[in-house]
Amino acid sequence: NSPNTVFSGIQPTGVAHIGNYLGALSAWGRLCARSPPSTRLIFSIVDLHAITMPPPPESLREYKRQGAAMIMASGVDPERCVLYAQSAVSAHTELCWILTCMSEFGYLSRMTQWKSKLNIADDASTDNREAQKHLNLGLFSYPVLQAADILLYQTNQVPVGDDQVQHLELTRHIADRFNTRYDCNVFTMPNVLLTPTPRIMSLKNPKKKMSKSDTAVGSRIMISDTADQIAKKIKGAVTDSIEGITYDPEARPGVANLIDIVAGITEQPQKEVVKQYSMMKHGEFKTAVTDVIVSNLDPVRLEFQRISADPEYIDAILRRGAERANEIAQLTLTEVKRTIGL
Ligand code: ADP
Ligand code: NA
Repeated sequence: NSPNTVFSGIQPTGVAHIGNYLGALSAWGRLCARSPPSTRLIFSIVDLHAITMPPPPESLREYKRQGAAMIMASGVDPERCVLYAQSAVSAHTELCWILTCMSEFGYLSRMTQWKSKLNIADDASTDNREAQKHLNLGLFSYPVLQAADILLYQTNQVPVGDDQVQHLELTRHIADRFNTRYDCNVFTMPNVLLTPTPRIMSLKNPKKKMSKSDTAVGSRIMISDTADQIAKKIKGAVTDSIEGITYDPEARPGVANLIDIVAGITEQPQKEVVKQYSMMKHGEFKTAVTDVIVSNLDPVRLEFQRISADPEYIDAILRRGAERANEIAQLTLTEVKRTIGL
């Protein structure tokens, strides 16, 4: 009889951009501020997921603390939730193995994220040996580890973007297979809590999503960016030569992307944002967008700096979070092992 539980995770892969912030971090902050006290909130820095494409050890250690600092700077109160690093709770890997033995190869092969990586590696027009080398078993079974993350905590709701809906379906499938095979109710069926912000696109190519792996200069706003850096990037954002401001993601993807950013930050429908800016010239519009972003992100940046300056505090938060996460996770893992006869 577990409480209503929300679980979500983010990979430690460096400083977040505004897409990560609007798509994940700020939503977590809101959950902390607005959920009733009876809701259990669990946020994980999923470092075991990150080693499917391993960064240098020193970077990973650094990214983990950075991740915790960013999460807290985005309004996640460590007193209100459980905040921890995945690798500090060994139940994740244990349950992952058990679930791996219940996951069909065919089903996993159909995951679109896996297929797109496979396609890149199989693309004969490029030197695909490098890409082939990166196709490790961990990448293939990544969604099973994700299922273990979620199911360990008897999670009811998982706040994620639309790109994760398929993986959530797999999680439900695995949970159902387990419960059916062993005629039990060990796992709670998790539901998707879809992030309201649409995908934020690259400022330089609004047909491509904003991403950490994009090498184009000025393509993304980082939560560590100063007001000047933000102003410069927005000024350089690709728009169009159509007069006035309208929301049309197909015909005017650059303008629509800036509207989406403002809508996400101010929690308004796009229609309301357009009303305020419709008569503006592009230059004025960009200044207004810059102001909205700066006034929202500047406190986050300063808080991120403040927290980052105290690694011992971060480590203490993560240690305490891991203890609590471990207590909850062990309840499920013990039940799972008993059920299957281990
Ligand atoms: P990246 O593609 O930059 O490496 P991740 O895959 O690490 O980002 O995603 C971390 C979180 O941020 C996920 O919850 C993901 O849905 C969200 N996210 C990433 N990019 C965007 C984006 N461009 N717009 C909205 N949300 C995003
Ligand atoms: Na629950």
